[in-house]
Amino acid sequence: MVALIKRFTRNGVPLRMLILGAPGAGKGTQSSRIRNHFAVTTISSGDVLRRNILEQTPAGQQAQVSVARGELVPDNLIVSLIRNELETIQNNNWLLDGFPRNLAQAQALDQMLLATDQPLNAVVNLNVPEHVILNRIIERYVHVPSGRVYNLTYNPPKVPGVDDITGEPLEHRPDDNPESFKRRLQQYHALTEPLLEYYRKAGVLASFAGDTSDIIFPQLKEFLDERFD
Ligand code: AP5
Ligand code: MG
Repeated sequence: MVALIKRFTRNGVPLRMLILGAPGAGKGTQSSRIRNHFAVTTISSGDVLRRNILEQTPAGQQAQVSVARGELVPDNLIVSLIRNELETIQNNNWLLDGFPRNLAQAQALDQMLLATDQPLNAVVNLNVPEHVILNRIIERYVHVPSGRVYNLTYNPPKVPGVDDITGEPLEHRPDDNPESFKRRLQQYHALTEPLLEYYRKAGVLASFAGDTSDIIFPQLKEFLDERFD
């Protein structure tokens, strides 16, 4: 069944949204479900980096080792990639997944948006218990050019090992191993979690909790239904 996609926000103010959450919390999964229902363009910082690594651009070469180890890439590198994405985007309604990841990046984003007087108007936090996400990562496969995410039990590809849309091969991410995952979680707690307070103070934070994306998505959809006609 093809879902009816809601195209316009109710009050005419475009959606400028962030999706925050620990590694494996389901940011990519929720983003793609949101795209099935609302005319929102999603930008995943991790997908942007993986595409640059695949194409071996100068940014990709600079990022490659940090990403595989589960460490954050330098702020100036990711800020400039995201600035470029936001400048070239064709849609006023957008959602960022994976950026910002620390206070310096959050401030850089605020500056970028201040320049065009288009502040963020929704920050969504996905609150998923840690024991749940650890198990998911092992079963995850991705189609790097598009960022489409599969899970061997939760949402397997129609044909094992290949992307549903393009038929191209799926890959296991090099940072989906126990050591890198541990590092990603540590960095999340140390650097990214403090952003929740930053956005709570700004009055734009909404948190959704649940063990699975199937429990969280209906809450998220209701939240967005209130903003879209
Ligand atoms: P990034 O790609 O952003 O990785 P992450 O934050 O670690 O998050 P993930 O993509 O792992 O998880 P997700 O929340 O998207 O979950 P998903 O939907 O896939 O970043 C990677 C790296 O890039 C970083 O470590 C860093 O090096 C660098 N980087 C990125 N941004 C940066 C920045 N701003 N600054 C500096 N460096 C940066 O779901 C996980 C799995 O669960 C999937 O297999 C999915 O199918 C499955 N799943 C989802 N829902 C369910 C369910 N209900 N039941 C069972 N399984 C489910
Ligand atoms: Mg992701």
